[in-house]
Amino acid sequence: MNTRVLPPTPQAIHEAALALQSGELVGIPTETVYGLGANALDEAAVRKIFAAKGRPADNPLIVHVARLEDAAPLCEISDTARALAARFCPGPLTIILPRRPIVPDVVTAGLDTVAVRVPSHPVAQALLHECGLPIAAPSANTSGKPSPTTALHVYHDLNGKLPIILDGGECQVGLESTVISLSGDLPTVLRPGGVTPEMLLEVLPEVRVADSVLRPLQAGEKALSPGMMYKHYAPGGVLTMVKGTQEKVQHVCRRLYSAAIADGQTACILAFEEHLAAYSGMEVLSIGRMAEPETVSHRLFAVLRQLDEQGTGRMFSEVLPAEGLGLAIMNRLSRAAGFRTIDADQEEEALSCPSRESSSRS
Ligand code: TXA
Ligand code: MG
Repeated sequence: MNTRVLPPTPQAIHEAALALQSGELVGIPTETVYGLGANALDEAAVRKIFAAKGRPADNPLIVHVARLEDAAPLCEISDTARALAARFCPGPLTIILPRRPIVPDVVTAGLDTVAVRVPSHPVAQALLHECGLPIAAPSANTSGKPSPTTALHVYHDLNGKLPIILDGGECQVGLESTVISLSGDLPTVLRPGGVTPEMLLEVLPEVRVADSVLRPLQAGEKALSPGMMYKHYAPGGVLTMVKGTQEKVQHVCRRLYSAAIADGQTACILAFEEHLAAYSGMEVLSIGRMAEPETVSHRLFAVLRQLDEQGTGRMFSEVLPAEGLGLAIMNRLSRAAGFRTIDADQEEEALSCPSRESSSRS
């Protein structure tokens, strides 16, 4: 199949809507990441999504609608969901709600809930209006790769597997939506994103954050959100996060970098814009401004993709506090690093006191 990347003219949006109506897939820009969309009510079309991405069938999809009310035939919309939508929709929030029978099992992986999102990107909105269908769309990457934040990323992963990618520019948020479940006793964030727990608390009296957000699932533990079971976002090489006080983090990053180079490896440091000067003479990539986490979320996936394509062997990354948008950033970075972390403060202490074995390296 010939894949065309089209600027989002009214004609292109019309063609993309026709493709969706006839059971084809479309690459769709959203404010979070690009989606790989199909008519959510067409089981055969939705199966094509799983085949194109190489996605396990037990990982359910998000259904996109132009307004939350458009999801009324698909799920039971509670007052809490309406209150969240009034504040955050359209925007980077996905709400898990009890499903109705019209939703094909293939969309929900057989769960009794369905994930619903109202994207704010004008191209996604225009396409939803033009096709008049709910659109099931996961991120438009090959399963396991970082989510795509440009049309070119989508083309790179899925060329030949879909007829049209609408090019809506770089995704503004750059990380996938916040997923909140309203199906249990307490509203629970299953995946952190652009709508932070702090923001959710402006609307809800209480919010739980699933504790698997910042740690790996334990043996036998059931994932609340099936997507959290899989290894995600990982570049081909070995990425290590380095935490601790700033000066020690920079010292440890420089030391590990030099050791990797001496070992004949290719290496790169992922540093905040403000700290680039600390790594002069070394291969270093900016992951955005520490003081403005939205610049970090915006570019993180593009940086991880670049490192993957370069085939960099060893990567060492500075980290952010897991608060506000930092929670979503650290959730993705931790997964990309397979949760590998070095505590620079302990590491430095161990070096100045060599009789003590450092246990932080993993
Ligand atoms: O920003 C986004 O959410 C993007 C854009 C395209 O909207 N989409 C996206 O979809 O990231 P995907 O499929 O890559 O991630 C959806 C996540 C997965 O972790 C999935 O397991 C979870 O949502 N999910 C979907 N339906 C669910 C359900 N009924 N219950 C629990 N988790 C669900
Ligand atoms: Mg995904």
